[in-house]
Amino acid sequence: MILPFEKEFSKNASSYNMYNIIQKEVAKKVISLIENSPKRILDLGCGSGEIFNLINWNLESFTAVDISKKMCELHPKNPYTEVINANYEDDELYEMLRRKKFDMVVSSSSLQWCSNLDNMAKKISKLSRNCVVSLFCEGTFKTIYKQSKLEPFLPNRKEALEVFEKYFDIEYSIENYNLFFEDNIAKFRYIKKSGVSGGKRRLSFKQTKDLIKNYPLDYLEFEVLYIRSKIPLYRAD
Ligand SMILES: C[S@@+](CC[C@H](N)C(=O)[O-])C[C@H]1O[C@@H](n2cnc3c(N)ncnc32)[C@H](O)[C@@H]1O
Repeated sequence: MILPFEKEFSKNASSYNMYNIIQKEVAKKVISLIENSPKRILDLGCGSGEIFNLINWNLESFTAVDISKKMCELHPKNPYTEVINANYEDDELYEMLRRKKFDMVVSSSSLQWCSNLDNMAKKISKLSRNCVVSLFCEGTFKTIYKQSKLEPFLPNRKEALEVFEKYFDIEYSIENYNLFFEDNIAKFRYIKKSGVSGGKRRLSFKQTKDLIKNYPLDYLEFEVLYIRSKIPLYRAD
């Protein structure tokens, strides 16, 4: 295990790409964890193509899945990419995916929202023995949860690890990121726009107002779990 790591970002709240600055950083780290330049990749929760755009080796196929039609439209296309607009929790999708061969399954900043992580890890393991995934865990926004006495809704990192350990021989690391803002309003705007909270509205108007007034830190906290399968890369045919 690599020890928890803390990284700090201070960006002007109005700057371009502000709202996915952490996801971009996470995608870079995911790419750095991929070894042996796998040629046939499946990306679950691909978004607008952050992972695809960072790949700097030759590919035979890149299959990208996202539930958002808009994200699928934004994802880069070329003769060897297939972009599928689907829910990655859907069994029907896997009937189709099982007909393809993947050297690696990648998922960055997305699996924290799935309704059953155990099912997802199992599904991934049936498609490939190689995976690199990153997901936001419950340490994300922890001070907000503490202050407003809400239960965190993001996965607990220990439980997430236990789930992946059932299906893969894994290694993992945890990174903590602090993102600095000029004021509390900017922080709460970020939470709303970044998509990190998965669109779940858990705070009442009064709770939000109290938090904006009393949130004690200059930054928002993020906890990201990175999991990589240890099995050496092999071609799936
Ligand atoms: C924070 S974005 C990350 C996008 C990209 N992987 C990246 O690293 O920038 C999470 C993506 O997961 C997608 N997503 C969330 N739940 C999903 C699901 N059940 N099935 C497919 N895609 C999903 C969202 O639509 C969104 O595009």
